[in-house]
Amino acid sequence: MVSEHAAQVLVASNRGPVSYTRRDDGTLDSKRGGGGLVSGLSAVDDKLWVCAALSDGDREAVRRGVSEPGVRMLDIDAAVHADAYNGIANSVLWFVHHMIYQTPVEPVFDAEFRRQWASYEAYNQAFAQALAEEAGEGAAVLVQDYHLSLVPGILRELRPDLRIGHFSHTPWAPVDYFRLLPDDIGEQLLKGILGADRAAFLTRRWADAFIGCCTEILGGTGRTRIGVHGLGADAEFLRRRSREADVDERMEILREQVGADRRTIVRVDRTELSKNIVRGLHAYRALLEERPEWRERVVHIAFAYPSRQDLAVYRDYTAEVQRVADGINAEYGTAGWTPVLLHVDDDFARSLAAYRLADVALVNPIRDGMNLVAKEVPVVSDQGCALVLSREAGAYEELGEDALVVNPYDVSATAAALHEALTMEPGERSARSKRLADAATALPPQQWFLDQLDALRS
Ligand code: F6P
Repeated sequence: MVSEHAAQVLVASNRGPVSYTRRDDGTLDSKRGGGGLVSGLSAVDDKLWVCAALSDGDREAVRRGVSEPGVRMLDIDAAVHADAYNGIANSVLWFVHHMIYQTPVEPVFDAEFRRQWASYEAYNQAFAQALAEEAGEGAAVLVQDYHLSLVPGILRELRPDLRIGHFSHTPWAPVDYFRLLPDDIGEQLLKGILGADRAAFLTRRWADAFIGCCTEILGGTGRTRIGVHGLGADAEFLRRRSREADVDERMEILREQVGADRRTIVRVDRTELSKNIVRGLHAYRALLEERPEWRERVVHIAFAYPSRQDLAVYRDYTAEVQRVADGINAEYGTAGWTPVLLHVDDDFARSLAAYRLADVALVNPIRDGMNLVAKEVPVVSDQGCALVLSREAGAYEELGEDALVVNPYDVSATAAALHEALTMEPGERSARSKRLADAATALPPQQWFLDQLDALRS
């Protein structure tokens, strides 16, 4: 049944714009999140965001009927959600699209995988059902990411009147790698997305890979249109927010930790395997080893914020990052110099402070849908920064000309690029940084979202 307050624009994503935690006195504390979709959607009226309850606090909020205007949180059975999110989305689909399986031993698609897949279907079904209830006649529904690949197909059956879009925030795997998935599952995923009127991606490369999979496996993309929308950094927000007092305070603390007259190499990531943090640290170690003139003269500020810690593989990677950073500090550190400043407690104001201090930004993912850090640092950095950028990040398509581009597996080449970045002549560095900032902000989040809406409705 269609709700009487039916919305005209709906967004569906696993993680929503708000989360709840239970305070000791039993009341609920709500926290609003950020990101491209949150700013993008702020430009639109008459909207509803459908998302999943992710924690006990969220589930409690749903049970008590606590909600933010314009948000519907779905209390999907916790075990079903865990199978779909941890089991399928983050252990299988994330690994396929980022091509990070250790293929001689994994993946293994067995009875346990099939059990989790049934949960992924049920979770997608719950989203489609809620969207079918909430959408007004002919409404636009924008479904986000690999968590919800089956939603467009199911929703199309339930509500043929809707305009349905699907947006992938990740890379898309080339067909030979996508074929690691069992044949019926690969087909189901592609057909699910092709239930949309329009399937969109962050870069041409990922869109072409999707078309390649559809062509090889299904014979084509059918009636679904394919689009590309390269989300940019939100210059206005970043410039204002990075000048606030809490950021200034953190800059003072970081300056003290770095020490006077030292250069900085900055990275900020969720600690997640595709980000390639460990190889980045090895490259920094190689720089100190092969170019001893940098010892005592540079500090690597590495913020690696824990992510998806329910999964052992992500916990192990987090521990490895810590181990390698500690090893560099033990090997090269002196009484007055800590070569790696690794922070793992998530603090947005401190990330912005690091952006402002950056002489060099290191962004070296194995594969990445876009990577907004690469776009944000040049916008915020006080004195203009050099960017060492992986050619496998989506951002490479827009920033490749003015970045120092690296193969993310090549530790020696990354070390050489760090040296080149640190020694770049100031005039060239600031000219490149300015061009990087211009390219990075060409498509601000609100425009990015409105473009998708227009294209879906046209
Ligand atoms: O890159 C895909 C993505 O879903 C992003 O949109 C999001 O920032 C990130 O992964 C976060 O993942 P999670 O919700 O698992 O923490």
